[in-house]
Amino acid sequence: MNKFFKGLLVLGGVLAVVVLAAAGGGYAASEKVIRAKLSIPAERIAIPTDSLSIERGKHFAIAVGKCVDCHGDDLGGAVIVDSPPMGRFAGANLTRGRGGIGAQLKDEDYVRAIRHGVARDGHKIVIMPSEAYNHLSPEDLGAIIAYVKQVPPVEREFIAPTFGPVARGLIATGKAPLFMADHIDHSKPAVAAPMAGPTAEYGKYLANAGGCTGCHGPTLSGGKIAQGDPSWPPAANLTPTGLKGYTEETFMKALRTGIRPSGVAINPVMPWKRAGEMTDDEIRAVWAYLQTVPPKEFGNH
Ligand code: HEC
Ligand code: HEC
Repeated sequence: MNKFFKGLLVLGGVLAVVVLAAAGGGYAASEKVIRAKLSIPAERIAIPTDSLSIERGKHFAIAVGKCVDCHGDDLGGAVIVDSPPMGRFAGANLTRGRGGIGAQLKDEDYVRAIRHGVARDGHKIVIMPSEAYNHLSPEDLGAIIAYVKQVPPVEREFIAPTFGPVARGLIATGKAPLFMADHIDHSKPAVAAPMAGPTAEYGKYLANAGGCTGCHGPTLSGGKIAQGDPSWPPAANLTPTGLKGYTEETFMKALRTGIRPSGVAINPVMPWKRAGEMTDDEIRAVWAYLQTVPPKEFGNH
């Protein structure tokens, strides 16, 4: 073997050791973030029992919270991400059926999980958008919990999260907020919602609690979704600059059909189907709010 190749081999060996050490460090660092537990004091939120509130809770759980996208239409749990680089994340079975946790959860456990992203044993819940739910009013949060508590039992085993190398790298370097519990001001109490109606003020409430801001960014100008799978397209610019071609009518149509005014389909990473289940007045409210946010170029937060 000539000197050149020997040199390369040695260099390769050194590099392999460096890479392995970095990966090992990343593993240890990510493991520390993943396993860290949080203790969030119990919060008392009134949970209604009347059928009108339960209906409202169901509507909010579907169209605003989109809980069903991760927990399944029957709330019995669903696999959300399953790719070796990222790992496997599945929404828990929230029912009282076998494999479900409904029978174990106390009212304050639901509040802690939804508003704070922290499970009943203190572990941080992966990819659940609790920073959005932190904006829910006590009334709407109570209604969602009332709904979840009374769904029929489903028998389905819970799949505990596993973390692939890409997810661990993102966690170790703090590049993706996979645990929203680390990005929430846990001391902030739940605030009452503005009066429901097709107003910009109520639209802002829906945009925050419904996760539009979570994916489209704090200024809604779009860009890479940090907490998303690396294969996801960037979120669109929802400021007046980005939605120039839209009217209230075509905005509503886009959310209901997944088709832009230009005729181009919206990628399903955008939960248009669920968002389209908002009432006409709720969609009008979000549209009214989007008209009031400062115009920004794409990805300008
Ligand atoms: C983007 C996906 C996603 C969405 C949306 C989502 N969840 Fe979750 N949720 C999860 C995952 C994943 C877990 C379990 C992961 C874990 O234990 O780390 C979970 C766990 C939970 C738990 C269990 C807490 C515990 O003590 O173990 C509750 C309760 C819960 N979610 C309620 C809700 C409700 C209610 C909504 C809608 C308002 C919702 N989730 C929306 C992903 C999601
Ligand atoms: C899970 C992340 C996510 C959430 C939550 C989300 N979006 Fe999106 N949205 C996207 C992505 C990604 C795109 C770009 C899709 C594409 O490239 O086809 C998008 C595109 C759009 C578009 C199409 C704009 C265009 O380019 O013509 C509209 C309108 C929209 N979103 C509105 C909303 C509203 C309103 C909400 C809140 C109710 C919301 N989105 C919540 C990820 C999200």
